[in-house]
Amino acid sequence: MPLTGRQTLTQYLIEQRRRYPAASGNFNALILDVAMACKAIARAVGQGALAGVHGAQTGELGGNSINVQGETQQKLDVLANDYFLRINEWGGHLAGMASEELEAPYPIPAAYPRGSYLLVFDPLDGSSNIDVNLTVGSIFSILRAPSGDEELSEADFLQAGREQVAAGYALYGPSTMLVLSVGDGVDGFTLDKDLGEFMLTHPRMQVPPSTQEFAINASNSRFWEAPVKRFVDECLAGKSGPREKDFNMRWIASMVAEAHRILTRGGVFLYPRDSKDASKPGRLRLLYEANPIGFLIEQAGGRASTGYGPVLQEQPTQLHQRIGLVFGSRHEVERIERYHAEPQAPSEPNPLFCERSLFRV
Ligand code: F6P
Repeated sequence: MPLTGRQTLTQYLIEQRRRYPAASGNFNALILDVAMACKAIARAVGQGALAGVHGAQTGELGGNSINVQGETQQKLDVLANDYFLRINEWGGHLAGMASEELEAPYPIPAAYPRGSYLLVFDPLDGSSNIDVNLTVGSIFSILRAPSGDEELSEADFLQAGREQVAAGYALYGPSTMLVLSVGDGVDGFTLDKDLGEFMLTHPRMQVPPSTQEFAINASNSRFWEAPVKRFVDECLAGKSGPREKDFNMRWIASMVAEAHRILTRGGVFLYPRDSKDASKPGRLRLLYEANPIGFLIEQAGGRASTGYGPVLQEQPTQLHQRIGLVFGSRHEVERIERYHAEPQAPSEPNPLFCERSLFRV
């Protein structure tokens, strides 16, 4: 390993490719294009207010621009989406892309050759953290495109997470990192800004099977289902409760940063299905949030679930479908699945209608 004593992302990809002598090199070129998009986003995020990219994007009618999810788009959401599209559309590796920021799939323009992969991404996850200078990231998933010349359709993207060829994320925090799985474990790279290269710094990342740390947005507790309430209550009860140990709680509001913490030191993350909004069975998006993070967590020996079963087995029905997601240290995720599988205790009796209450029945 010349130069710095560390392997570069390019060297790493070449070594991976040697396992498949027939490979064309298209896949490696695609990952390097994705990495380039992430470097461009890292530069914009790092310049912050100096680059004039903070704040909400203005829409055509003058107000804030709202994306397909009904969320206010930040200027950096739009810029990051554009970097992903422009840097990945020309290379001939892709048949199409889909993004959190675009309602419909993005077919490769006719001016460029069409390739054999699909790229699905959330260009900037946790974007409510941009203006407060906290960690955000990009999440991506690579799928195989259908062979043939037919026009690309939304249905081509609706593949279960198990079908992913590769997945990863970039983290724009105190340092910029790229964490990647090409289906053979998980490896983490740190951007050397002087060389402009991602260097392998976190080989073979593993999620410890047990943990004493959990992450959930507790302001939603009144909307949670009973198994989630039970899990959190038991963690909060600490040493004196049924778990007989104290837990620590975290919430960054940037799933990609929570995933990185969990890949580094373990923990469990929950954004479960809840009853907050009947039109949204969960907050996170299956294709470009839950699936790629689930793939990485499983490749690192952890577990990713809807609470009811492995998230990677879910058959998507829509491009922007939302889903409940629980991931992290295996023992905790298995416990949460067990709680979902157990018959639920009848709900607490209403005290107004109990024996000796005001309204006896
Ligand atoms: O869009 C997804 C996301 O920003 C995640 O990164 C994060 O975990 C979650 O939403 C934050 O949700 P809330 O606003 O409920 O804290």
